[in-house]
Amino acid sequence: MLAELQEISKYYEQPGQERRFIILSQVSLSIGGQDSIAIVGPSGSGKSTLLNILGTLDRPSSGKVILDGTRVDAFDENQLSTIRNQFIGFVFQLHHLLPQLTLIENILLPVLPVADKLKQKMAVERAHHLVERLGLQNQIHRRPGKLSVGECQRAAVARALVNRPRLLLADEPTGSLDAENAGQLGQLLGELNREQGMAVVVVTHSPDLASRMGKIYRLTSGELQLIPPS
Ligand SMILES: Nc1ncnc2c1ncn2[C@@H]1O[C@H](COP(=O)(O)OP(=O)(O)OP(=O)(O)O)[C@@H](O)[C@H]1O
Ligand SMILES: [Mg+2]
Repeated sequence: MLAELQEISKYYEQPGQERRFIILSQVSLSIGGQDSIAIVGPSGSGKSTLLNILGTLDRPSSGKVILDGTRVDAFDENQLSTIRNQFIGFVFQLHHLLPQLTLIENILLPVLPVADKLKQKMAVERAHHLVERLGLQNQIHRRPGKLSVGECQRAAVARALVNRPRLLLADEPTGSLDAENAGQLGQLLGELNREQGMAVVVVTHSPDLASRMGKIYRLTSGELQLIPPS
């Protein structure tokens, strides 16, 4: 398995109160290297929390996070950032582009630490290819403040893909896109999954994007359930 969550629980203590606020309750999920998975569920159900725990940006209250056969939930920050850089591409619910950098500089940010010059050159080529695929070629020298929200969101997708991660985690990647751009992004993710063997986990409210994924899970009341194919 490429990534596994085993009996993950997450709760927050409430100051001055005995009751814990339970977000995730014994959630297990296995992700194979070729899988594409959608996670749906109401706002506040814990989808971003689940994705952040899977991507090691947040820690579970209990349970195991296993990436490529290694248990990582007790790793320190240095170890985790190495794993994330090698392994995972993130598209955040809010795009998190750096305002002082242009669109193309933002996309190339993950390429900077790549020491191998040839690999770096290939990543730069890939960045330009992604920019074209995502319809951003006329905006590459603009800063995020002068881009639309949807353009920022597409740039964040390109940034997540530029180092060819084995696992892409995307939190509402089409939330700010019109139907056409959302469709194109869904198609791109499907292609990368099938043709380059990139595993994809998307959190989405979009039935169209969810239907492009091989499996759909619903998160409600802290529990994750597979929705049988219709
Ligand atoms: N640091 C925190 N302390 C306490 N509660 C928190 C904290 N972070 C998140 N929560 C709560 O956890 C719940 C799940 O949040 P989460 O962001 O995972 O939901 P979501 O399913 O991604 O929602 P949305 O669809 O609106 O993005 C929410 O009720 C939120 O208020
Ligand atoms: Mg969320």
